Amino acid sequence: MADLKGKVALCTGAGRREGLGEAILKQLAADGARVVVTDLGTPQTHMGAEHIGSSDEMEAVAEDIRRAGGEAITVPLDVRDEAQVEAAVAKTVEAFGRLDILINNAGIGYLIKPVTEMTREEWTAVLEVNLMGAFLCTKHAARQMIKQGEGGRIVNIASQAAKSGHPHMSAYVSSKHGMVGLTRTTAVELGPHGITVNAVCPNHVTTGLGSVQNEYFARYKGLSVEDYLAQMRNNIPMRRVGLPSDTANAVAFLCSEAAAYVTGEAMNVSGGVEMH
Ligand SMILES: NC(=O)c1ccc[n+]([C@@H]2O[C@H](COP(=O)([O-])OP(=O)(O)OC[C@H]3O[C@@H](n4cnc5c(N)ncnc54)[C@H](O)[C@@H]3O)[C@@H](O)[C@H]2O)c1
Repeated sequence: MADLKGKVALCTGAGRREGLGEAILKQLAADGARVVVTDLGTPQTHMGAEHIGSSDEMEAVAEDIRRAGGEAITVPLDVRDEAQVEAAVAKTVEAFGRLDILINNAGIGYLIKPVTEMTREEWTAVLEVNLMGAFLCTKHAARQMIKQGEGGRIVNIASQAAKSGHPHMSAYVSSKHGMVGLTRTTAVELGPHGITVNAVCPNHVTTGLGSVQNEYFARYKGLSVEDYLAQMRNNIPMRRVGLPSDTANAVAFLCSEAAAYVTGEAMNVSGGVEMH
């Protein structure tokens, strides 16, 4: 377990139940951090209620953390909106006095189609959340961490898709590869301030986003979702898909003092299916 007592952590896209953000914040809170649950809260023009973390879900995640003895607040945050990002950092500091850990977790993974059919709008929607959102949150969180002068931790939730190509996922794969570039560049820039920046690259986890991908690719391969998942498991050396806790444990390590000298890494958490 990491000792995160006295630390304050904000995670984006953390409202959706059983998503990676929920697991990450619960782990960081269990390790002693006070946490800020942020997410869209309300459906957007391009994202229906079935794809987002609602206000009720955000509050439920925070309530679970409080019931377990932790401290948590909720802040609605669309990571594409720079004013909202600035305001979320300000609300964090107002509530908890500081910000030490940023987890860039918000992501869109449901716009899946052949590159020859992908529209400019769909491409932009994915890149704006997955990559530009991470940039905006990094910018404003890093400013606060630099002002505090005590270092910090930024962890970007990338993907196996940050390391390899996947059919019909040109925007998603490009955004996640881009996230590794953002990780490496900001690690170099922010290192002198004692801020580490790393990415975690999970393989498939059956979250809300992961389920949409399973349904699409099972249909594409002419398989049932069960058979598609069985085939996937068979190709993973550890013979199971990822769990939210696998990613949460890796994030907690990267946020800990033990990882103080680890920066600019893109760590696979993939049961051995991704090795470079
Ligand atoms: N599930 C997987 O197989 C898997 C694998 C590797 C990486 N990831 C990455 O993990 C992260 C979390 O995904 P998840 O699998 O937990 O799915 P999820 O659907 O539970 O979480 C994605 C969250 O992002 C939020 N979001 C979308 N647009 C946003 C915006 N503009 N501003 C703020 N929040 C926004 C959604 O509301 C949702 O809560 C994503 O970045 C995803 O790409 C997932």
